[in-house]
Order: sequence, then C-alpha cells, then structure tokens
Amino acid sequence: MSAFLMTTIGRATLKNPVLLASGPAGYGLEYEGLVDLGRVGAVVTKTITFEPRAGNPGRRLQETGGGLLNSIGLENVGAAVFFAEKLPALSEAGISAVVSLGAEDWDDYRRLLEAAGRAAVDIVELNLSCPNVERGGMAIGADPELVALYVRHARDALGEATVIAKLTPNAADIVALALSAEQAGADAVTAINTVVGMDIDVERRRPVFGRVRAGLSGPAIMPIALDAVWRISRAVDIPVIGSGGISSVGDALKFFLAGARAVQVGTALFYDPALPAAIVDALEKDGVPPPLP
Ligand SMILES: Cc1cc2nc3c(=O)[nH]c(=O)nc-3n(C[C@H](O)[C@H](O)[C@H](O)COP(=O)(O)O)c2cc1C
Repeated sequence: MSAFLMTTIGRATLKNPVLLASGPAGYGLEYEGLVDLGRVGAVVTKTITFEPRAGNPGRRLQETGGGLLNSIGLENVGAAVFFAEKLPALSEAGISAVVSLGAEDWDDYRRLLEAAGRAAVDIVELNLSCPNVERGGMAIGADPELVALYVRHARDALGEATVIAKLTPNAADIVALALSAEQAGADAVTAINTVVGMDIDVERRRPVFGRVRAGLSGPAIMPIALDAVWRISRAVDIPVIGSGGISSVGDALKFFLAGARAVQVGTALFYDPALPAAIVDALEKDGVPPPLP
C-alpha cells in the first residue's frame, strides 16, 4: 500500500481514491475472488432502506448502446440484516466500507439513521437520487431544499461520521444540489447517479420495464458525469467523488483532471472486474493527476 495515494474525505482516510460504486458491487463480498477488494479504497455497499425491499418485479436490466438500463428498485436486505451480518463480514475481511443509505420516506430515513448511529458507521453515502422507486429517491434528490433537510438530519444523527451526498443528474441544476448539500454539512458529494431513460420492446409493443423509466449507467453517461464533476468542483469546497461510466484507466484520469478527489467504478465491474485494481496500479505508478485550472 502506498501512503501517497491516501485520500481524505471528511474525517475519513481511505488508502486510495478508487471505490466500487453502490449497487453493482452488492454488499462487497459477492465480488471476492473477482475484484481484489483489498486493493480498492472502499466498497460503497448496495443502498439499504430501514425495512427490507423486494425491489421491482419483472425485467430489471437491459443493455443499450454504450450503456445499461436498470430498474432494480432498491432491493435490499434492510437495516437489521445489513448491520448484523453484511457490514461485520466486510470489516472482518478488512475491507473499508462506505454505507449507502436510502430513504423511502422521512420515518424510514429517521429509523435508518438511528440504526446506522448505533452501528457506529464511519462513512455514509446518502442515496437521495435513485430513479427506480415510487417514493423517496429522486423525488428528494432533485430538490435542493429537501437535499439540505436530509443531509442536515444525517449530519446531526451521525455525529463524527463522514457524510457524503450522492446527487442526481435528473434535476434542473446539479450544482445547486451540491451547494445545498455542502451548506447543510455534507463532507463530500458523489456525482452522478444514473440518468433517467427508457426502452421499448418492439415485438411486444410495450415498454421494457414495468415502471417504464429506468436508470442509465455505463460509458454512455460519462460525458454527463464529467461535466457535472467539472462544474461542481468549481463551485464547492468539499471533495467531489466522480461516478458515471468509468470503464478504463484513462476515464478515471479524466475525472481527477476534472476535479474529482476520488472515483467510483460501477457498471464496468460486470465485464471488467479487474478495472479498479488496474486504476490503482496506474495511480501508484504515475500519481493522481492534479485538477485542471
Ligand atoms: C445494477 C445497478 C444497481 C445500482 N444500484 C444503486 C444503489 O443501490 N444505490 C446507488 O446509490 N446507486 C446505484 N447504482 C448507480 C451506481 O452506483 C452509479 O452511480 C451509476 O451506475 C453510474 O456509474 P457507472 O456508469 O460506473 O455504473 C446502481 C447502478 C447499477 C448499474
């Protein structure tokens, strides 16, 4: 492990700035053996809600030109199982975790934060931006005032923990969301979550997904993510974590040049699970490029 890659986000120090994005990496250990989890700075775990969720029925994934549409609907084991089984398993394996928290409604969110506080979680990422659920998610994340409310509550409930707000690109102005999160006490922001899209099954003459709209990820969204990181990092003083379409070492370097403090690899894990370690190798060799002026 090289000390010069150590990365500070809020009160937390990660051994390097390469993270696995929430969702594709599950609860982390699913990728043991495929991804060298000991090499990455942290695994951002699948978003949990207070109650377990079965997720959306029907089709959940559809490949598109240069991307992937998903409509998972925040399937997760819920807070009790996550904090009793999933998180301890990661820490026993010596893997740093960023715990992704979602909100179906205010009451669910409040109880989830209490559970996270009891578990003395070090770093959380607030997923205020999921496009695939009826309530919560994007409805909260697209409104700067609601973002501030949810961030402030996490800040107050979690004491010393590092609080990261994950932002949606499906909003009028993502920079306004970032400023709002910063003012409410977020230690960092992650940009971006998936971009809303849809697909149609021509044979069956109906939308592919039961909920019609889904979240687009993968290389197709990288220019949107890069633009968001570029603009946000010029507007806020807190670190920006880049997420969206990273599928090569060169892509990751572009995010650092755009102003990101750290990067997350998501969809690319499905076809190139060695990528996160390859990015760490490249950074160890040549260093993290400083942001462009
Ligand atoms: C199958 C799948 C599931 C996802 N689940 C979550 C999730 O639970 N919470 C979250 O914050 N983001 C989730 N995401 C979004 C990713 O974390 C990431 O922000 C987004 O896909 C863009 O990065 P990528 O193009 O590298 O995948 C999911 C993405 C995919 C493809």
